[in-house]
Amino acid sequence: MTSELQVKQQVRQFYDEVGWQEVGEGVYQNARFEDLRPVSREYIHNCHLRIGRYLNPTGKYFLDAGSGPIQYPEYLGYSKGYQARVCADISIVALQEARQRIGDRNENGQGLFVVADVANLPFIPYAFDGVVSLHTIHHLPVDEHRQAFLELYRVLAESKMAVVVNGWESSSIMDIFTMPLKWGKRLMKRIRRRIKLINAGKSSPKPGEVSTFVNKHNADWLRREVGTLIPLEIYVWRSVSVRFLRVYVQPYLGGKWLLRQLYYLEERFPHFMGEHGLYPLIVLKKSGMVNKWNR
Ligand SMILES: C[S@@+](CC[C@H](N)C(=O)[O-])C[C@H]1O[C@@H](n2cnc3c(N)ncnc32)[C@H](O)[C@@H]1O
Repeated sequence: MTSELQVKQQVRQFYDEVGWQEVGEGVYQNARFEDLRPVSREYIHNCHLRIGRYLNPTGKYFLDAGSGPIQYPEYLGYSKGYQARVCADISIVALQEARQRIGDRNENGQGLFVVADVANLPFIPYAFDGVVSLHTIHHLPVDEHRQAFLELYRVLAESKMAVVVNGWESSSIMDIFTMPLKWGKRLMKRIRRRIKLINAGKSSPKPGEVSTFVNKHNADWLRREVGTLIPLEIYVWRSVSVRFLRVYVQPYLGGKWLLRQLYYLEERFPHFMGEHGLYPLIVLKKSGMVNKWNR
């Protein structure tokens, strides 16, 4: 068995057995990676809506590659004007949950559910008028990230758009804010060691904090490995991490106001915030040029 296969099996098992298990009403374990507090709701909602702006509003088939269970209501809006939404995922539990959520046919058209690997999509070229792949490519074995982008591009119809959201491995904007947190953490660790409350070794994760294989890149990697083969543009999806939100955004400290200012900056400087913030929104537009990846 190759290590690539092992990675995929581990990821699939994680989502089947942990990530897509409900821990509350309509809330999956995976939502621990999101800030669901009321103070952040408006900002998070607006960031989700951003994705729809870059997609063609109508079409025949819409692909959600690595769909999960379509966990946030805003996700449904992206395919509202399409005849069918195809959810593709390696996790069968994700697809069962997605099917329960939207059914085979609903006001958004037909729901179709396919167990598939985003790096080897079982669809013909030009099949989809709209494509999203959100927070998925980072779970693939590193050698397959480029292939996954090319696959999304391959199945996209002529002059249509695909949106990929994935975190960067690091962010200069986030570094400014997380530095004091890191120092604080180190200091606390030292104090605890001194009073012998914990051992010198690494502490084990708390229950509910388990995760799976993730590997991320930076903008240089994306431009070099993918941007030289297919046209892409980097915008911002969300510039800050959940950790940032939980620490710095508090309702009693003008958190909502702070996030409105941040959102304004993201809208004003989408390329800068996309490249230097934590989560870029990557737009692929199928151009008229025919290269070896198109067919
Ligand atoms: C972090 S979740 C994101 C789900 C959804 N896109 C969202 O934003 O809520 C990652 C999803 O990608 C799926 N996934 C991981 N590797 C995959 C692969 N190679 N092909 C297809 N789906 C994959 C997982 O099963 C999981 O459902």
